[in-house]
Amino acid sequence: MVCYFLTKIQYLFLAYIVVLKYFYRSNQELNYMSFTHLKQKVTTILADESENTDQRLKEVCELLQSSIGYYDWVGFYFANEAEKTLHLKAFAGEPTDHTVIPFGKGICGQVAVSNQNFVVPDVKAQDNYIACSITVKSEIVIPLFKNGKNIGQIDIDSHMEDPFSEEDERFLEWVNEEVANIL
Ligand code: SME
Repeated sequence: MVCYFLTKIQYLFLAYIVVLKYFYRSNQELNYMSFTHLKQKVTTILADESENTDQRLKEVCELLQSSIGYYDWVGFYFANEAEKTLHLKAFAGEPTDHTVIPFGKGICGQVAVSNQNFVVPDVKAQDNYIACSITVKSEIVIPLFKNGKNIGQIDIDSHMEDPFSEEDERFLEWVNEEVANIL
C-alpha cells in the first residue's frame, strides 16, 4: 500500500516536471521562436516598396526594440568612407548625441575597422567605449556588408548585463543581409 502510494506520488511529480518543462522553456528556445516570427515581420517591412529606405529601416529598428525585451536601443549606422565616419541613419529608443562616430572610436567605430561582430557583455570593462546613457550595461554591434564591403552596422544597447547569445548574432547577421538587399 505504501509502495503504491509512493509510486503514485512519483508519477505525479514526473507529470509536474513535464508540465513545468512545457511552460518554462529555456530563454534560448523562446528567443529562437521569437526570432523566427520576427524574421517574417522584418521581411514584410523591407519588401514594402511604398516606403523609402529610411522609413523601412526605422520600422525594423522599432520592431526589434519593441519585440525583444533586452533590445533597449536599436540603430543603423552607415559609413562615409571619404570622411572615415559612421552616420546614424535610423534608430528606435532614446535619442543619442552620437549621430556621427569616427572610425576606430567606440564599439561602433572599432567594428567599422575590424569587419567583425563585437559583443560586449559588460560595457564597463571596455576602454574604447562611447557611453550613450548610464543605464546601458551591454552592447552588440554587427557589421553590414554589401557586395563583400563593410558599409555600416546594426547597433543594439541593452539595460541588461550579458544578454546577447549566438542566436542574437545569427539573427542580426540575417537582418543585415536582408537590409543589404534593399540598398
Ligand atoms: N556605444 C556606442 C556608441 C553608440 S550608442 O550606443 C548609440 C559605441 O561605443 O560605439
